[in-house]
Amino acid sequence: MRTRFISTTSNFFFALAIVLSFSAPVLVNAKPHGVDDLDCDISPATLLALQQAAVTELSTLSDNLGCVQKDAIGYPVNQDTNLEGFYRWYIESGMYRYALNNVGNPLKPAPFALNTLTQEKQVVAYFSKLYGFDPDSSFGFVTSGGTDGNLHGVYYGLKYLQSLDPKEKPIVYVSDEAHYSVKKLADVTGSELRLIKSLPNGQMDLEDFKQQLSSTNPALIVSAIGTTFKGAIDDQEKIHEIVEAAKVPGAYYHLDAALFGGFLPFLKDEKARTIVDHSKMKFDSISVSGHKFFGLDEPAGLFVTTSEVMNHLNPESIPYLNGAVPTISCSRNGLTALKLWWKIKTTPKVAFQKQAEEIVANAKYLQGELQKMGIKSWMNPQSNTVFFERPASSIMKNYNLAADESNLYGPLAHIVVMQHVTRPVLDNFLARLATTITSSKK
Ligand SMILES: Cc1ncc(COP(=O)(O)O)c(C=O)c1O
Repeated sequence: MRTRFISTTSNFFFALAIVLSFSAPVLVNAKPHGVDDLDCDISPATLLALQQAAVTELSTLSDNLGCVQKDAIGYPVNQDTNLEGFYRWYIESGMYRYALNNVGNPLKPAPFALNTLTQEKQVVAYFSKLYGFDPDSSFGFVTSGGTDGNLHGVYYGLKYLQSLDPKEKPIVYVSDEAHYSVKKLADVTGSELRLIKSLPNGQMDLEDFKQQLSSTNPALIVSAIGTTFKGAIDDQEKIHEIVEAAKVPGAYYHLDAALFGGFLPFLKDEKARTIVDHSKMKFDSISVSGHKFFGLDEPAGLFVTTSEVMNHLNPESIPYLNGAVPTISCSRNGLTALKLWWKIKTTPKVAFQKQAEEIVANAKYLQGELQKMGIKSWMNPQSNTVFFERPASSIMKNYNLAADESNLYGPLAHIVVMQHVTRPVLDNFLARLATTITSSKK
């Protein structure tokens, strides 16, 4: 039945192709059906009026965002975007006229000419060096955000482990305080997920990991390098020790370093830098967000892995894209890569170092002040995130604070001290918080 349908439809298309080939000159001149009925006579004045109305509406949006930005201290997004120079060039050069697309294999000559792959490669080279990869045997690309990087970590990890042992299915391990994207990605990839308990500070509980680790299946371990709420860093060295002792048949280590991957490599503290150093910690891939520490004004990120992992992918070759395409998304944003390129070209290393030191110092200052006020608060080592007893709802709303619940600590809030969360911003917050405490005691 099915075969008959195919042969009938292919006969139909064959006949149609013959008819079209004879009638092609007529068809080229014909207007598509329905176009004559449309009122296409739009005057320049109408278009201008439409644009002016849109600008008025968007200006209100921009004014409103300006009001909330200075007090937006509850989420890990750096509001010091500092991209004026980039946008000036973008307008003045006429760059906005090009519909960019970085589709294809970032390592190969571009099949689609309107791309920014040269700049993307430079961005990847910068970050692979920053995370201790050998530039000659690593691979990476600009992602659409931390989740996209985690998606590639999970996908590449599964492919790599399946190539080592195609019989046993890999198991994904992540802590229950790690970002929810990882749990979703295990679901999307149809993988067994073992959710490991975490300690009160948010770190993966290694005793539970030991208990749950299978010695028969390959292990794909996602370590949280800065959990989203408490800013805890999983202990990679101990995780490696446990996996090795269990004689697991193959392991892949991915780091979710969405926020902390931005500032840890720039801290003076060598221990902090080591955490995201592939040459020392031997992780297989890392995902970092571009809109967190690096201040892009749109979701963006980076994914870096080794050529060894990349060589185990073996995706299908696409002739019109110059071979195999290792990224899951086909079309990729060429403008994001340019913005990241702009950031690394116009921000000297010392400037990133200063920002990194400042956010950690300001977080310590905040925690100290909260303690002085008698508010229970906590922060992990090498962290810019302070979590504390949840304040009044007016404070939560005004400062755009995120809420969480803890069995041990009760209702919580946190502040993520990014570059725009300066001492004056924190002092204003503390002063306002003090008034709510005083009034609640009256
Ligand atoms: C630890 C961690 N991983 C991943 C993500 C997801 O990153 P994105 O929002 O860029 O997809 C976040 C977001 O806050 C995060 O905190």
